[in-house]
Amino acid sequence: MSKNALITGITGQDGAYLAQLLLNKGYRVYGLMPRRSTDTRWRLLELNIEKDISIIYGDVSDLSSVIRAVETSKADEFYNLAAQSFVGTSWDQPVLTAQVTGVAVTHCLEAIRLINPKIRFYQASTSEMFGLIQAERQSETTPFYPRSPYGVAKLYGHWMTVNYRESFQLHASSGILFNHESPLRGIEFVTRKVTDAVARIKQGKQKTLSLGNIDAKRDWGFAGDYVEAMWLMLQQDTADDYVVATGRTTTVREMCNIAFAHVGLKAEDYIRIDPKFYRPAEVDILLGDPTKANKKLHWKAQTSLEQLMAMMVDADMRRVSEGR
Ligand code: NAP
Ligand code: GDD
Repeated sequence: MSKNALITGITGQDGAYLAQLLLNKGYRVYGLMPRRSTDTRWRLLELNIEKDISIIYGDVSDLSSVIRAVETSKADEFYNLAAQSFVGTSWDQPVLTAQVTGVAVTHCLEAIRLINPKIRFYQASTSEMFGLIQAERQSETTPFYPRSPYGVAKLYGHWMTVNYRESFQLHASSGILFNHESPLRGIEFVTRKVTDAVARIKQGKQKTLSLGNIDAKRDWGFAGDYVEAMWLMLQQDTADDYVVATGRTTTVREMCNIAFAHVGLKAEDYIRIDPKFYRPAEVDILLGDPTKANKKLHWKAQTSLEQLMAMMVDADMRRVSEGR
């Protein structure tokens, strides 16, 4: 019998790829979508899956919305991907970030506890919780030290997930995902900002690219690979926490070199440093140790950073040439 899945954050990068994955597996997919004044479904439209998803209007910061979504969807699996997910914005909107990215996780857990404790729950935790890293490679046992209001909010959501698992025996798992990107990445994140600029510069529509701290290092993977790990976590007999990463770290500078080189340009000829993109506190380096996910979920990142950048630059070359 086919299963029902509820996804919050369905219009985001991961929400779109996860919805596609679950539809391909035969799930009925419900998405919680906040009302906005303009259409936010561009990713679902790009994947051509918008007609296959049942939208439930609501907001994760509104407990009644979440309760209604859980009841309406009759979910077997609940993936909480909704968040104010841009780290930079979290210093400008720290209270909203706490509510949407943090407290709302408890709305999801409470709705499950009240309506159907058998629902399996996935919480979108993050490597940003490691912040000022306490180990060279970060695993499930590495202590956390968040460096942004976003990281602090996510840490609350992470521990509430662990707590509801231990207190009420919910099948609640937390995926500690390292940075993952794709052609569907929001334009404010550094990889997509870079690939969009590469396409515009190559097509003569932009002259330079302004960035902040290009010495920061990230463990970047492909979002399409990472949503598979989310699904795998909910297929296990017992819920648990997993680091999902590639195990390779690269500077922003080197990521730029790879992206520009894909169209035969040199990054150093176009990059300008603008302190306005520096953050009040930086996460200098992230490098994940995905051994547990490799062994228990049989999951491994499939896409190299070179393949990922090529995929993203190609998609932006197409968009820019179409005038988008
Ligand atoms: P994203 O593209 O920014 O998507 C966030 C989604 O949350 C959007 O659909 C957004 O809808 C929705 N949302 C925001 N506020 C909401 C609210 N109050 N109620 C309901 N929905 C709301 O993020 P992503 O990259 O797909 O990431 C998915 C999740 O994984 C997030 O929780 C993120 O923090 C976490 N994560 C991401 C990464 C990564 O590298 N991508 C790594 C670790 C963890 P609108 O667009 O309408 O606002
Ligand atoms: N966005 C952005 N824009 N980042 C820049 C820029 C710029 O112009 N210049 C340098 N950077 C640096 C940031 O300072 C940071 O060190 C790095 O590039 C990556 O920034 P983002 O792409 O914005 O991602 P993030 O690492 O802060 O956060 C992402 O990954 C987290 C997982 O570690 C987001 O997806 C979070 O939601 C996610 O939890």
